[in-house]
Amino acid sequence: MTRPRMRRLLLLAACALPLLAGAAIAQQPPGAPAFTPTVGQSGKDVVWVPTQQQLVDRMLDMAKVTAQDRVVDLGSGDGRTVITAARRGASAHGIEFNPDMVALSQRNAEAAGVTGRASFVQADIFQSDFSDATVVTLFLLQTLNERLRPTLLAMKPGTRVVSNTFGMGDWTPDQSFDTGAECASFCRAYLWIIPAQVGGQWQIGQDRLVLEQRYQALTGSLTQGGQAQPISEAKMDGETITFTAGGRRYTGKLEGGALSGQVEGGAAWRAVKAAG
Ligand SMILES: C[S@@+](CC[C@H](N)C(=O)[O-])C[C@H]1O[C@@H](n2cnc3c(N)ncnc32)[C@H](O)[C@@H]1O
Repeated sequence: MTRPRMRRLLLLAACALPLLAGAAIAQQPPGAPAFTPTVGQSGKDVVWVPTQQQLVDRMLDMAKVTAQDRVVDLGSGDGRTVITAARRGASAHGIEFNPDMVALSQRNAEAAGVTGRASFVQADIFQSDFSDATVVTLFLLQTLNERLRPTLLAMKPGTRVVSNTFGMGDWTPDQSFDTGAECASFCRAYLWIIPAQVGGQWQIGQDRLVLEQRYQALTGSLTQGGQAQPISEAKMDGETITFTAGGRRYTGKLEGGALSGQVEGGAAWRAVKAAG
């Protein structure tokens, strides 16, 4: 090939490239019907079934979503949970594997006028970082929830997790809700609050508090004056601890590595991690 001919071919290719790239980027030819999702369409790890709006509202109520929250929906479908959270003033984000559903969610957010607070990304939830969320919403499967469980438990204490219908295995929910007899399927919601980790030995003055923790549930004992008493009705609610020992109700909070609060009736208590 002669040099001028080669130059002409390169020039032609350079001119044609942007056109070819543009054709590849455009998802939908102009005038083509918009993508319409089908209930039950396959998804990467679970099919698409939308949460009924009534339950979306209830899930966000259970999580007490406010404008201060960062809500992340894992497998966000048509974007309804994200859009509802954004309507409440929260910053909301959806992670969805199906690119057509992501584009649909963006159109739905535009129609709802919440694009400033609602965002969507095409990604695999198991390859995504959502550690900035204060509320995580799910409508997946129990097996998928259990896969996510270690990641969820490592989130900031007090983070709320709400799931449509599916549980977390042996991690019992802090709250559950049933839509009622008029609902045919996918009618339950569960709430979990990420507990602070407080298991171990604590010193309250001369007394010794031993805590064994399983998720939010606590068991253990309080030894006072050499006498050990089992603790009961003991749990973590985020960073808040409550338990009963020796007939007295203790309430406290984990702050700066110490537990401190009130004993029912007025006295203050403070526990620090016991040495050894
Ligand atoms: C049961 S639908 C729930 C949709 C939405 N959250 C709701 O409540 O209406 C599950 C969604 O998860 C998506 N999905 C499945 N596996 C996924 C994965 N590994 N990463 C991201 N999205 C996924 C599906 O495409 C589907 O849209």
